[in-house]
Amino acid sequence: RVALGKALGWAGLCAAGAGGLLGGHLAFRQAAGPNKTEPVPHLLEPDWLPLGSMAEFPAGEAVRRMLGEVPVLVVRETGGLIHVLADRCSHLSGPLSEGTVADGCVECPWHGSVFRLADGKNVRGPATAPQPAFEVRVDSSGTVHVRLPGAG
Ligand code: FES
Repeated sequence: RVALGKALGWAGLCAAGAGGLLGGHLAFRQAAGPNKTEPVPHLLEPDWLPLGSMAEFPAGEAVRRMLGEVPVLVVRETGGLIHVLADRCSHLSGPLSEGTVADGCVECPWHGSVFRLADGKNVRGPATAPQPAFEVRVDSSGTVHVRLPGAG
């Protein structure tokens, strides 16, 4: 049954090749499901970075700030807790700071992906990847500092 073995081997090779061709086409030509925030950790220093004073972030409002070349979304809860996410949506780089903030989440204004402010988790697509979420601390003078885990 050598012929059958060879035929099945060729069939397997063709299936793997077709899968690779299709995956490459979807990823590189169609940009289906890419993570547009992948470069963010590589554009930031691993240290704590100053973002501004608490007074610059009104409760419940989405505020956009720049950390070097990286725009970030800052949302301060009424209780004072501050959330900071990368501002460009992981789907196709929509500006989350122009989106809708509600129920502890932000909705992208372009295609409606929803991300949880606390940790950047993608709650609803089309985004397939979470938003980078920053650690936040406030020093004694009221200045907000952020740090992205894994940056550098
Ligand atoms: S760019 Fe945000 S959902 Fe598409």
